This record gives sequence, C-alpha cells and structure tokens, in this order.
Amino acid sequence: MTYTVPKLKNYSAAALGKAAGKLVSALEQESAAVKNETVWKEFRDRWVGRKSGVLTQINELWLKAAPKEAKREVGQLVNELKKEVENTVELTLQRIRTGAAESRLTAERLDITLPGNHRPLGAEHPVIKTMNEIVSVFRNLGYSVEDGPVIETDYYNFEALNFPPNHPARDTQDTLFVANQESKPLRERLLLRTHTSPVQIRTMEKMKPPIRIVIPGKVHRNDPPDASHSPMFHQIEGLAVDTNITFGDLKGTLDHAMKALFGSSVKTSFRPSFFPFTEPSAEMLVSCFICGGSGKRGAEPCRPCKLTGWIEILGCGMVDPNVFEFVKHNGYDPQKISGFAFGMGADRIAILKYGVDDIQLFFNGDVRFLQQFA
Ligand code: DAH
Repeated sequence: MTYTVPKLKNYSAAALGKAAGKLVSALEQESAAVKNETVWKEFRDRWVGRKSGVLTQINELWLKAAPKEAKREVGQLVNELKKEVENTVELTLQRIRTGAAESRLTAERLDITLPGNHRPLGAEHPVIKTMNEIVSVFRNLGYSVEDGPVIETDYYNFEALNFPPNHPARDTQDTLFVANQESKPLRERLLLRTHTSPVQIRTMEKMKPPIRIVIPGKVHRNDPPDASHSPMFHQIEGLAVDTNITFGDLKGTLDHAMKALFGSSVKTSFRPSFFPFTEPSAEMLVSCFICGGSGKRGAEPCRPCKLTGWIEILGCGMVDPNVFEFVKHNGYDPQKISGFAFGMGADRIAILKYGVDDIQLFFNGDVRFLQQFA
C-alpha cells in the first residue's frame, strides 16, 4: 500500500508526532522496496515530485491548512520531514547504484590463473610487403607517395593519358565498366581503373613541377582468373617531371631501383614498346635473378624467365607532350619541362621473388599459405 497524506484533525504536538511517525515509516518501507532505477524514479516522483509529491502535499494539507497559532511548529516539522525525505531518496539511489556495480563485479570476477586468450599476430601480406619494399627504394631517392581512387572516370583512366575516345589502344586495357553510365558524357563515365597511371594526371593537377612520385595501388581488368591472371591486381607507378629530364635519367633511376630490389648483380635492358602516354616507350627487362641470366638451373630449364635469362618487369617511357597538354595550366608546359614514367605489376614481382606458381594463392585468403611469409 502506498502512503497517502492524511488531513490533520488537530494540531496538537501528539497528533503531529503521530502523523510524522507514520510518514517516516512509510518512507522507509517504500525505500527498502526499491530495487532498480526505474522503480527509484517512480519512488522519487511520488515523494518529491513538484506537482503532487508527498512533500508538496504536506505543505498544502498540513502547513497551509494549519491555524495561525500552530504554523510555527508545523513549519518546523515540515522542514525536518523535507530534509528526511530528500535524504532518503538520495541514499536509496546510491544503494541501488553500488548494488548494481557490486553484482557486476561479482559476475566479472577475474581469474588471473586462467590461460589468456591467444590472439595470433597478423603479418604483412606478401604483395603488400613487396609494394612497401619497392616504395621504400624510391622514397630513398626522394620520391613521395601518392594515391587515387580505384573507381575512376574515363577522363583520368583514358582521355587525359592520350587514349582518345574509340582509339584502339583502349582495347589493350580489358576494362571493367560501371553499369548504367550511358546518360553521362563519356569523360565522366565510371570504370574500375585499369592501371595506376590516372594518378599521374591527378597529381599533376594538384602539384606543380618539379615532382617525383610513386603510386602503389589496386587495379582491375576483365581477365578471367588463372595461375597468372587475376581480375584484381596491384601496380606501382612512378613519375618524375622537371626541367631537362632525359631518357638517361629514366634508365639510371630504374637500373638503380632494380639493383636495390633484386641484388647488385642484376642487369637491365630496354626494348622499344608502345604506350599512348609515353613517347618513346620501352619495356624494361632484368637479367633473371633466379638462374643468374643463364636460362638454366643446373640441367633444368629456368621457367620464370622462359629460358631466356631475362624477365620483363615494367613499362616505361618519356611522358608524351600530349599528356602535359591536359595539365598545362598548372605549370606543365611541354616546351619547358619533361619527364619520365614507369609502371610495374607488384603481384608479378612478388611471384618471382617468392617463387609462387599461382597468383590466385595471394588472394584466396588461405592462412596456411599466407603464414609462410610472416
Ligand atoms: N599503365 C601501363 C599498363 O598498365 C603501365 C605503364 C607503362 C605505366 C608505361 C607507365 C608507363 O607509367 O610509362 O599497362
């Protein structure tokens, strides 16, 4: 039974004492029954609620209704009761809060003699590790690292790299297009970037020459997966632009980088090639670091270099002036500056480095395979 405030029939000291006694014992009983915060809130509102709480009621029914000569005494009593009630409400809250904390502690009691949860340490993925190594070789030469979006526009992936609309050079890129782009102008249509080269343009748009950058990243092509192809793979792009950059700079830089990566005894060789965004363009080969360039491993043929003693490692060339035209407004006047660029497949390099015979192993997430590189 919840307590209701009675009207006082008389204001004698005895009657007041009795009424106060009843109120306090009701207060204590109700307080003891409070077990959680929701109930506590109801309890608080019933006793100290402004509108119709017990305290408001004794003010109305006892103090205001008291005859003049009793006012002083009733006033004192009401004040004392007010303190008592407010105090009890507060203490009740503290009691349930500490109670809750204690029961949580009991439930979570820690047994420090139990063996801990073993969380195996992760490790760099072999492709990422290879990319980091390549990037650090160029960092040591003063290159900085840039990146760009994997979902790219036709403009950056093709047009600004001197692949005009409908040009057959686009066919070499086996592009995966984002669906439902036909309503947009061609240059705004989205696709999965087929190479990291678009970041050359993006960087030249935001940084004035001279620049020296490398761009590691993910690329996609419409290649069905097999032992040497994956629709998703990784490239590292490089770009150096300054006044008087020559093909000699390109050769010296890449020759140094290959020696740093594969050992000081590897040789490099360049043969002519074609890329729309470089002129002249070349493919660079390194002498096979597996067979030492002989094409043989003992009596066995060396497979990674297909018996040739050379491994094709990247595409490169001098930046085509047509590419600079697209960023001319940012200080890339092809009459005044020149540059070289290169791009290599990180997965392929990792395959060669670690002697892996199937690129799929890198991406199907088998921990037994990946652990070998930890
Ligand atoms: N983007 C080319 C590709 O994926 C690779 C490449 C070749 C990048 C020559 C370059 C370059 O920067 O100069 O086929």
